[in-house]
Amino acid sequence: MTDPVQQQYEAYPYPARDPADETRRLITGSPSFLPELNHYVFGGRRDFHHPMRVLVAGGGTGDGLIHLAQYLAASGAQHEVVYLDLSTASRAIAEARAKVRGLTNIRFRTGSLLDLPQLAPGPYDYIDCCGVLHHLPDPAAGLQMLVDQLGPHGGMGLMVYGQYGRAGVYPMQAALRQLTIGEAPQRQVALAKALLAELPETNEFQRNPFLVDHKNNDSGLYDLLLHSQDRAYTVPELHALIDGAGLHIASFIEPCCYDPLTYLKDDELRRRAAALSLPEQQALAERLCGSLKTHVMYVVPQDRAAEAVAQPAPDLAPWLNGVPAKALAETLAQRGELAVTFDAARLVFAAPSKAAEIVALIDGRRSLGAMAQMMDLGWDDFAAIYGPVHRMLTGVNKLFLRQP
Ligand SMILES: C[S@@+](CC[C@H](N)C(=O)[O-])C[C@H]1O[C@@H](n2cnc3c(N)ncnc32)[C@H](O)[C@@H]1O
Repeated sequence: MTDPVQQQYEAYPYPARDPADETRRLITGSPSFLPELNHYVFGGRRDFHHPMRVLVAGGGTGDGLIHLAQYLAASGAQHEVVYLDLSTASRAIAEARAKVRGLTNIRFRTGSLLDLPQLAPGPYDYIDCCGVLHHLPDPAAGLQMLVDQLGPHGGMGLMVYGQYGRAGVYPMQAALRQLTIGEAPQRQVALAKALLAELPETNEFQRNPFLVDHKNNDSGLYDLLLHSQDRAYTVPELHALIDGAGLHIASFIEPCCYDPLTYLKDDELRRRAAALSLPEQQALAERLCGSLKTHVMYVVPQDRAAEAVAQPAPDLAPWLNGVPAKALAETLAQRGELAVTFDAARLVFAAPSKAAEIVALIDGRRSLGAMAQMMDLGWDDFAAIYGPVHRMLTGVNKLFLRQP
């Protein structure tokens, strides 16, 4: 085995997971949380009772794989989830997790996504590629390989590193390369720990409070500081990568973090920010926020741009993500605002008019049309007051639309 990336993930599968933990919890997250991907890739209109082919490219120890396979299994249809990764050690953990859960809808493959047409050919309805492209020697070539196996009506959930939130990582990686070159992975980890214990206070990595992976376990430390192939992206660089593959960014997650108005109060500054194009707004938001360590996004072929993201319509039902409607409605009514924390950034949003009343009607099955009737409003009047509530709650990733 000569590929240092493969060598790393054989020695330190990432993230570190114990299959026995599957009996007590299901890890979910972005990208590829089923209600979220339905909202951002399939306009909220995917019928999961119909079979679907899904690829998890660079599936690692199985976080995205397991929650996707578990949710799809629950829908009862004949879904196929294909797992592909370079690392046999990571695959063993992912397979053990699937076994504990009794999941039989996964096909496991070992190898590089650069050999996808031979190892696990498409077409796929959905592809998850989380934390992998930035470890390829040529990320654009890797992305193109995925695009070539994506079906015409499909989309992808991607995650790549963000540059500004990772401030200090790359000088540390370079320093550790100087100090540990040629050593076995375990020795490199020991030397990295010794270095971390005596970093000067002025060191940029030392001063970045958003980076914690190295404190969790050796696997996290290796992934963050000793990686041999690792790059980060700014929003403009990402747009260039995605555009270059003939794709369109349907949305970043969480959307509010990529909206400069989230961070601006001054009227003049807000007006100037709002006048920018959408990609420029997203780039500005990233610069203002400063703590985005990763970029999670849903992407679709450019000819699907208009249909990817679910839009309020009478037949779609809003579904709340991880928060009971009653509690949220009470918070909005009592405080008149919604506060959330992402990557240590505390964001506060003023509750739009009638927000509490609207949220109280959400039960995951009731359509927006039915909610309008309950409020004795015609669709246009309802849509006018629902719109700002929708923007706030989708912005903080607490609401997705779906067909009931
Ligand atoms: C940071 S881990 C992410 C794992 C998983 N996607 C997650 O989010 O938990 C990166 C994974 O990509 C895999 N990988 C790197 N290059 C690859 C390639 N060319 N083809 C397939 N897998 C690759 C590694 O083996 C590793 O398991």
